[in-house]
Amino acid sequence: MSAKVVINDVGPRDGLQNQTTSLPPEERVELINALLKAGVDHVEVGSFVSPKAVPAMVGTDIVLNSLSSKPGEFSVLVPNMKGYELALAAGAKCVAMVLYGADGMAQANVNMSRADAERAMEQILQRAAIDGVRVLATIAVSWECPFDGPVTKETVADITRRFVGLGADQVVLADSIGAANPQQVRELTAMLVNEHGAQRLACHFHDTRAMGLANVFAALESGIRSFDASIGGMGGCPFAPGASGNVATEDVVMMLEQMGYDTGIDLPELMNASRLADRLTNNAPGGRAKSWLEGHLRKKRKARNQVHE
Ligand code: COA
Ligand code: ZN
Repeated sequence: MSAKVVINDVGPRDGLQNQTTSLPPEERVELINALLKAGVDHVEVGSFVSPKAVPAMVGTDIVLNSLSSKPGEFSVLVPNMKGYELALAAGAKCVAMVLYGADGMAQANVNMSRADAERAMEQILQRAAIDGVRVLATIAVSWECPFDGPVTKETVADITRRFVGLGADQVVLADSIGAANPQQVRELTAMLVNEHGAQRLACHFHDTRAMGLANVFAALESGIRSFDASIGGMGGCPFAPGASGNVATEDVVMMLEQMGYDTGIDLPELMNASRLADRLTNNAPGGRAKSWLEGHLRKKRKARNQVHE
């Protein structure tokens, strides 16, 4: 198994969509630039959704435009064909479309049944193939829905099979409300890696019940090498009651690097991005290892300075 792990920072979308105050596009770009400086080269930079549903994502076209000359994979979330067309017009080369493990979440999020959302996403996939746009298919509530309860492995396996078959570049298993435990994560990821290989799969965890990192580890053990995470632990879906922030990027990078995996991310620079997220939003708590990480990096800086004295 490869020792390289890809981290996709979804903070600029999953994190900022849920703040009480909206950041202007320039500040969203400032945060994304701080992530790029730290070596995070996959970022979900915003969404093309109804401005009434999520006002904080207005201006995602400006954000995308500001990044057009930068290297990296910048994805944008789209809930329907209108969102896809707006994304394409703004120059998006990668879209994250959303599927659902349960009807309740589909209704709350996009006012559609699960089947209607799947039909809309199928049309987007057909268009994206013609337009040469990469497609990430996120399955929201892959383990549990806040409205309908537990989601079976078979349901998620069926959706994954169908959308891999239709040409989705990657299927992202999302624990949108942070309800899964590592045992459940191990079971589902092992089953899907066995069927599709790890390359086509990624995981997205929220840390509501403090099992975010343990879930990353469980998926890692199944062979998954691609994870969503959010700078400063920001996040949560406004339409999924009880969801708290995503697993923090700095925690995931710290754990992976300590285990010998290569994320290509510089932790001191990542901590700068985390502090910036907090300064901009006043609401990015940082990871669970925040105080250890800050002390550790301070000590390393001090030791380096003494060598140079
Ligand atoms: N981007 C921007 N505007 C959009 C849009 C999109 N992707 N899709 C629809 N709209 C606009 C319509 O043009 C219409 O505008 P109007 O009121 O000025 O005429 C309005 O939104 C309502 O459209 P309608 O098709 O009736 O949708 P709806 O009210 O049933 O809402 C969604 C459906 C999908 C647009 C809305 O629920 C949504 O944007 N959800 C996204 C939620 C989200 O981002 N969740 C977190 C991420 S998983
Ligand atoms: Zn999420």
